[in-house]
Amino acid sequence: MFKLTDKVAVVTGAGSGIGEMIAYRFAEAGALVYVAEMKPESGQAVVEKIKSQGGRAEYVEVDVASESSCQAVAREVLSKGDKRCDILVNNAGIGHVGTVLTTTGEDLDRLYNVNVKGVLYMTQAFLPSMIERQAGAIVNLASIGGIIGIRDRLAYCATKFAVVGITKCVALDHADSKVRVNCICPGRVETPFVQARIQEYPDPKQAYEDMASTQALKRMGRPEEIAAAALYLASDEAAFVTGSALIIDGGWSAGK
Ligand SMILES: NC(=O)c1ccc[n+]([C@@H]2O[C@H](COP(=O)([O-])OP(=O)(O)OC[C@H]3O[C@@H](n4cnc5c(N)ncnc54)[C@H](O)[C@@H]3O)[C@@H](O)[C@H]2O)c1
Repeated sequence: MFKLTDKVAVVTGAGSGIGEMIAYRFAEAGALVYVAEMKPESGQAVVEKIKSQGGRAEYVEVDVASESSCQAVAREVLSKGDKRCDILVNNAGIGHVGTVLTTTGEDLDRLYNVNVKGVLYMTQAFLPSMIERQAGAIVNLASIGGIIGIRDRLAYCATKFAVVGITKCVALDHADSKVRVNCICPGRVETPFVQARIQEYPDPKQAYEDMASTQALKRMGRPEEIAAAALYLASDEAAFVTGSALIIDGGWSAGK
């Protein structure tokens, strides 16, 4: 397994689903993990679980859609203990079901503020310290919806295409500073996020089956299958990987 011995990692949206699993895997790999989450109860619960298993973790409250909140988290992390952040995982994200005819400007703004500006603000908050140290790894959670279109997901796809674009631009702009930037593009992964989308359909059971069968492997992914990729991209084993959009979609896009 990949090691993150003595690394300091910040994982946004780490109170649930994929981010939660990334926090567990990073802590198991030896990192001090800052669980950056807007829901204190779920964030604290993840911290307690990591500590009960002998790992190191701290909770920091953040709303990634707020620039001042992201700056405050960076000030807190960069003034404590090791005074550094080696790894930033921009995982926090939200979804929406709708076509161009049913998506309002407000819907798009809401998703854009979290999914796109969240990545922008957190990166702006932590990147200067990485540049100063000439080291760092950033992993963004995009989606297969950032590579191909998905029916009924207009706002979501618009924001995730943007995350792939931001990933590639930051990777290019800061390669000389030895900061690596990559993103992961999962297919459907069974998390509370997907459960919430399923409940928006008239027949949730049918919706679950339809969503599972979108993948060539005919099942949804598991959070640990995405966390494994985040661990690799964050580790020194991925020293030659930057600007990549790693597709982990059970073959969903293979025939597209
Ligand atoms: N689950 C999937 O099928 C899937 C597929 C592709 C991509 N993704 C992406 O992976 C990421 C994680 O998804 P998930 O399924 O684990 O979601 P989730 O809903 O289970 O967890 C997301 C976490 O982010 C937190 N969060 C939301 N808005 C926030 C904000 N403004 N500031 C701080 N924290 C905030 C939530 O409180 C929650 O704990 C998202 O970016 C999502 O778009 C998920």
